[in-house]
Amino acid sequence: METAAVLSNTATVAGRRLVRDTGGLLLRHPANKKLRNQLRFTPVNAPTTYRSVIARAVEVDSSLSVPSETVDLNWDNLGFGLVHTDYMYVMKCSLGESFTKGELVPFGNIEINPSAGVLNYGQGLFEGLKAYRKEDGNVLLFRPEENAKRMIAGSERMCMPSPSVDQFMQAVKATVLANERWIPPPGKGSLYIRPLLMGSGSVLGLAPAPEYTFLVYVSPVGNYFKEGLSPINLVVETEMHRATPGGTGGVKTIGNYAAVLKAQGAAKAKGYSDVLYLDSTHKKYLEEVSSCNIFVVKGNTISTPDIKGTILPGITRKSIIDVARDQGFEVFEKPVTVDELLDADEVFCTGTAVVVSPVGSITYLGKRVAYGSSGVGLVSQQLYSGLTRLQMGLADDKMGWIVELK
Ligand code: COI
Repeated sequence: METAAVLSNTATVAGRRLVRDTGGLLLRHPANKKLRNQLRFTPVNAPTTYRSVIARAVEVDSSLSVPSETVDLNWDNLGFGLVHTDYMYVMKCSLGESFTKGELVPFGNIEINPSAGVLNYGQGLFEGLKAYRKEDGNVLLFRPEENAKRMIAGSERMCMPSPSVDQFMQAVKATVLANERWIPPPGKGSLYIRPLLMGSGSVLGLAPAPEYTFLVYVSPVGNYFKEGLSPINLVVETEMHRATPGGTGGVKTIGNYAAVLKAQGAAKAKGYSDVLYLDSTHKKYLEEVSSCNIFVVKGNTISTPDIKGTILPGITRKSIIDVARDQGFEVFEKPVTVDELLDADEVFCTGTAVVVSPVGSITYLGKRVAYGSSGVGLVSQQLYSGLTRLQMGLADDKMGWIVELK
């Protein structure tokens, strides 16, 4: 797709001269009237520093107008909910072709045909990663190539073309830098990055969609669970399953998440934080929680279910395994039984959104087992600290996991 020059028109609001960034080709397309109407006014004298950083770091339109006003948000009160930011990244391609070039457009609704593959047949994938702001102003991404590779693996399973690792990285960097003012101050949270890949073309008979859209949007976030960093209470689901052998549980397809809403809703209604799923064959081995992986601690050993097609290969999961081994724990990726879970010293969950979340209790067939007398277990605390210090740039990045944006 050709990158269009940015068109500007100006207005004076409350004595300030403002420029309206009318975006690129995509926005000028008649079908995108609604998106055009949502364009924001930004100061005409927006600092060029962001523009040049973006132009230097990634290949995007260097005339992009990035608002300079500081964001008026209560950074101490961030949860895990969408905050509208300034820009999102969009790139399209046809089935059988490769993605070529995308662009940043103002964040807003998208128009999509009612017969799009993603709406009718769930042909879609998503990713999740985070950007952290450092005290020195630098912005850090945590293992973004891993997300790119996982999207490529998932796109193969879901019969979709995928952006290359390089295209994924460029898009993520561009979106983060264009929304830099929305990155929480150090220690107050992170900018959650949500790449989406979807069959956006029309298809009525069951088949891969003829057109695909890769989109990246962002939102400042704090803790995922309402419990914050306090232990969560899980219930083991024995009837409904998240994934089945040969299915799509091992890729980050959107349908995996809709499939857990019923059990999750029922659990929440009973006061639990979330649901832990079992394997669908034996109903005996742990799989994962709705939105995160699970770990069981016994003495100096830590076990987590092995990746075998029904469990999402979490990037935080993989990182915690390395951090734990580095801290001297013996870590096993293997089938983990409910009995081992109930007999554990500590249990915790990992995920991009949840980071490392300690589990305070598990309820299985009406029997509740609590871990520790109160508060966060020592191992969970130690691993949380080891991981987040790396992510926030407070510890030496021996593993080479951090990508600096400036
Ligand atoms: C993430 O941790 O990034 C996820 O994708 C889970 C999502 C349900 C919030």
